[in-house]
Amino acid sequence: MGNATVDKSADKSADKSDKSEKEKSESKEKDLGGLKTADAQPLVFERSGKLFARAKEHIPGGVNSPVRSCKSVGVDPIFMANADGPHIYDEDKNCYLDYVGSWGAMILGHCHPRVMEAIETAVRRGTSYGAPCRAEVEIAELLCSMVPSMEMVRMVNSGTEACMSAIRLARAFTKRSLIVKFDGCYHGHADSFLVKAGSGLATLGISSSPGVPEELTKLTISLPYNDVDALREAFAKKGDDIAAIIVEPILGNAGIIEPTDEFIKCMTGLCKDTGALLIYDEVMTGFRVAMGGAQERQSVKPDLSCFGKVIGGGLPVGAYGGRKDIMEHIAPQGSVYQAGTLSGNPLAMAAGLAQLRFLKANKPHERLAEITEMLAKGIVEIGEKLSVPIQVAHVPGMLSFFFTDKQVTDFAGAQKCDTELFAKVWRGLIERGIYWPPSQFESAFVSIIHSKADIRQTLEAFEGSLKEATAKSK
Ligand SMILES: Cc1ncc(COP(=O)(O)O)c(C=O)c1O
Repeated sequence: MGNATVDKSADKSADKSDKSEKEKSESKEKDLGGLKTADAQPLVFERSGKLFARAKEHIPGGVNSPVRSCKSVGVDPIFMANADGPHIYDEDKNCYLDYVGSWGAMILGHCHPRVMEAIETAVRRGTSYGAPCRAEVEIAELLCSMVPSMEMVRMVNSGTEACMSAIRLARAFTKRSLIVKFDGCYHGHADSFLVKAGSGLATLGISSSPGVPEELTKLTISLPYNDVDALREAFAKKGDDIAAIIVEPILGNAGIIEPTDEFIKCMTGLCKDTGALLIYDEVMTGFRVAMGGAQERQSVKPDLSCFGKVIGGGLPVGAYGGRKDIMEHIAPQGSVYQAGTLSGNPLAMAAGLAQLRFLKANKPHERLAEITEMLAKGIVEIGEKLSVPIQVAHVPGMLSFFFTDKQVTDFAGAQKCDTELFAKVWRGLIERGIYWPPSQFESAFVSIIHSKADIRQTLEAFEGSLKEATAKSK
């Protein structure tokens, strides 16, 4: 075990009380005794290695979701055993500061007491009913109060389900077939979305998937993000057949790429003019970049929105919702069929409610923005100090860095970055106790429990690993 290992008990005081977030982070900063990470030490992954060998026998590729494979950064997956606050611990008892955060679900950090208590209480009442329960009503009311564009909502089990159902609804409502998406955006793994998609597909260098019928991909138009000319042209040619634009309002699945104001205006204008629906896929940005998601930051009222991750407090939940006159078409009120044995599951609702209520009551987004900004500024400064061109993109709670001297405004730009250097730096970060998403084409997630001391530790590790990575390549 390397010197990235830390005694779990050292951090317990950080989030086990009702202290304000500021007090919590201050107490955590005092609690980091003994943690040294500037110098890398090879970590031992013996147990992870053995589990991976077993996993490969019965699980394709040894993992249940491709991006966990760590292939693009040249290592085997690390098997995790437990997590607490901002930390995650692997099977070999190596400790990491976690910037994956279950790919965005853990905005309050791991094992937040409110979420844990809610799950513990709910589990004693049974794990699933297959019948309506109070928590479903409460979460629907809460969601509609937090996201002004949402008048009605349907709970599902994942972000994929939310996006897949939203486009079915859009097609039914508009009686049109075509869907516009953007290169590098990822809306889950439903057939219609696996066209020039980001996330795991981008990481593995595949733009679509065998098994998706060509007839179906012809109904998806994928355009470069931020390209208003291409968007206008597509609508000029096919506007009468376009059911919806589905977009990540801040692209997170190609690394982070922010939309230009012109791009947002163009999308909203074209939808208004042609009757196509605007679907904001806020699975990543929802309740994270602002209480009301990216749509709040951008002052946009999409017709439909999709959510996941934060909405479930770490349990499998998704949701889609929006205008009442559209949502009323969903069965059983309308005829658009969409269902789920475990939808609105009482455990998942309890976890999601606890997490969302905590966010609503404590409004931690300003601090989340501050701590993300501190990390971003630090990385930029390190790049300048070491004369390595880096572009850092960040919004509250999300950050990614690209090794390039050009601003990244679309997926093609992200693909031109130095992904080999990214992989080297990633390995250096792991050796220094930082668990960063193992792909250039993913966002890192900062939680409200990451303290300033955690950020300083991360920056020290980043500097060490960038120095090492660039020295080796010289
Ligand atoms: C923007 C976006 N939409 C949809 C999805 C799919 O969500 P899930 O993995 O829960 O199916 C993801 C997953 O990362 C996502 O980032």
